[in-house]
Amino acid sequence: MLDKVYTAQGSPNIALVKYWGKRNERLILPQNSSISLTLSSDILNTTTSAMLSKKIKKDMFYLDGKLQNLEDKEIRERFGMVDSMRDLAKVKENILIVSKNNFPAGSGMASSASGIATLAYVLNGALGLDLNPRDLSIIARQGSGSACRSIFGGLVVWHRGSRADGKDSYAEQEFDESYWPDLIDNIVVVSQEKKKVSSRAGMRQTVETNPLFRQRPPIAEGRVEELIYAYRQRNFDSMAELIMADSNEMHALMLSTRPSIRYLNNNSFKIMDAIENLNEEAGGNVAAYTFDAGPNANIITLSKYKDQVFKALKPLQDSKDILYIKTSGVGEGPRMLDDSDSLIEQSRLSPK
Ligand code: PMV
Repeated sequence: MLDKVYTAQGSPNIALVKYWGKRNERLILPQNSSISLTLSSDILNTTTSAMLSKKIKKDMFYLDGKLQNLEDKEIRERFGMVDSMRDLAKVKENILIVSKNNFPAGSGMASSASGIATLAYVLNGALGLDLNPRDLSIIARQGSGSACRSIFGGLVVWHRGSRADGKDSYAEQEFDESYWPDLIDNIVVVSQEKKKVSSRAGMRQTVETNPLFRQRPPIAEGRVEELIYAYRQRNFDSMAELIMADSNEMHALMLSTRPSIRYLNNNSFKIMDAIENLNEEAGGNVAAYTFDAGPNANIITLSKYKDQVFKALKPLQDSKDILYIKTSGVGEGPRMLDDSDSLIEQSRLSPK
C-alpha cells in the first residue's frame, strides 16, 4: 500500500434530471433524486495517481499541472474526502495526488464529478479500503454531489434518501452502458471560461431565496421514474421531452433566484432554437439539449440522427458561436490503470 503509485481513470456524467439544491450542506444530501448518463472515458476523462509515503513531507495535490493550495476553502471542502477516507483506513501517512483532465475544468463540463469520483476510486485502492461501489458513491457524494453518479457506468440514479446521516443517499446503476448502444451525447462547447458562480454557492442561493424551489423536488422525483420507464422502452422521443423539460426547469429556477443566476449565454439559446427547429421539422424529438451549470450544451441523440444534428448546428459552427463538438457514447465507471500510465515520477516524488 505505502510507496506504491495507484492510478485510475474516470469520466464525467451528464444529468438528465438534475440535482440542484441540498437539504444538508455538510453531508451533501440532495433535495431530490437525479439521474445521469456516464460518458465514455475515451472522450472525456480524468486520470488520477495517488501515493502514500512516509517520504512525503506534506499532502500535495496537483491538478492539471498546478499545485493546489490546500488552505483554499473550496479545495479544503473537497479534500475533506481524502481525510475521511484516510481516517477510515486508519492511515496517517501524507499523500501525493496528481490529477489531470483532458477537458477544461470548471466550465460546466462536470469536471468535479469526474475528478472526485476518480479520486474516491483511486484512494479506495491506494488505502486498501475495498469499499463496494455503493459505499464509494456515498463517499464521493461528500466531495461533490454529482460525483457519486460517476462511480457507475451507464444510466445511474442518485437516490435522494431520507435518513439524516445520508447512508441511504447513494448512486445505483439502472442500466449498464451496453443497454442502449445507439445513444450518444454531443458536448457542444461555446465557452471555456471558468463559471462565475460555483454550483455549490448557486444552489444554496436558490434554496434560500427562491419560493418557486418548493415545487421542484416532487416534480423531479416523478420525472426520474418517467425517465427510467422511457429508457427501459428505449423510447427516445419521450425521453428527450423529459430531458429538455428538466434542463429548462433548472435554469428557470436559477434565473428566478435572488440575485439572479444565469449560466446560459446567447449561444446556448441559439443551440436550443436549432434543436427545437430540428425536432419540429422531424415531426418528433430526434435530439434533446441539456445544460448544467454553464453555457455549454449536451445534445443527446441516437447515432442515426447524428448527421441531422450536426447539420442543424453547422451554421453556429460556421459563425464560431460553437467552438467545437465532442461526441461520446455511454461509458463505463472508473477503472484502475497500469503503472505505465502513472502520473507520478516515483524516484523524485513529483508529477511526471
Ligand atoms: O455536484 P455539483 O456541485 O457539481 O453540482 C452539479 C449540479 C449540476 O451539474 C448542475 C446538475 C447535476 O445533477 O449534475
